[in-house]
Amino acid sequence: MNVTPDPSTYPYFREPKPAFIRLWHWLSVLFILASLSTVIFGSTLFRMRNNISVVQEQVERKGGSITADQARSVAHEYSDKLWMLHKYIGYGIAALLLWRIILEDRVSKEKTIRARIRLVLRYPDGAEKKHFLFVQYGYMVFYGLFILMAITGLILAFEDQSWLKPVHEPAKTLHEIIQYLLYTYMIIHLAGVIRADLYKYGGIVSRMINGKG
Ligand code: HEM
Ligand code: HEM
Repeated sequence: MNVTPDPSTYPYFREPKPAFIRLWHWLSVLFILASLSTVIFGSTLFRMRNNISVVQEQVERKGGSITADQARSVAHEYSDKLWMLHKYIGYGIAALLLWRIILEDRVSKEKTIRARIRLVLRYPDGAEKKHFLFVQYGYMVFYGLFILMAITGLILAFEDQSWLKPVHEPAKTLHEIIQYLLYTYMIIHLAGVIRADLYKYGGIVSRMINGKG
């Protein structure tokens, strides 16, 4: 028999998340920010095009001479090093994602996102239920995008594999586009948790750190 639960029994955002999820969350934040830093540096300070003239200028200042093509190779080497770092951080992200997928299936079945959605769908309608479901579906969209980012990133990372050549260009385009959706998600998420902490769900951020209810 399906009995409608009492709305006050589900604490919505007041329930701490399991330790594994909290650890995963903060490690992922760290890796995503590190990855983002390489993207920012790669498109600014280490942008190859901007550095060709810098290399030429420096060599000429020391009395040497260097062609634009030679300077291009030097500038390219530095930008290449940075993208290598992005790739290694990307492997870390892919490993974290795999761990998250295993967690979702193996650990604390009643605390998975799907279980939370299933449970709350049985509750009477109301603004709090709507908001809670919006956030949970948001997490699912985020995980979908994040998985796509890792898959396309891995395709780019293994570009020398001939069987991946036909999907290289689409993967590159997708990788470039999805980044903006992820940035949008991060901004909304950050604004959401800060607002939640300040108003209705005080302590939500410290609960995500210390796990105390
Ligand atoms: C938060 C996650 C990530 C963001 C925001 C991000 C962003 C980017 C951006 C903006 C580019 C440059 C695209 C271009 O102009 O061609 C790029 C390239 C790349 N990404 Fe990611 N990425 C992320 C995750 C990953 C992951 C998980 C991997 C997996 C290993 C990865 C591997 C690569 C590779 C191999 C390249 C090509 C680098 C090159 O040009 O040599 N990325 N990424
Ligand atoms: C790179 C940036 C971030 C990403 C991609 C991200 C992603 C996520 C995801 C996917 C979840 C859901 C976890 C789950 O139940 O499976 C989550 C929860 C949460 N995050 Fe973040 N997060 C980021 C940064 C932050 C920051 C900076 C804070 C704190 C200021 C924060 C605070 C929280 C809190 C409090 C929750 C739990 C909310 C709830 O009870 O539903 N996050 N985050």
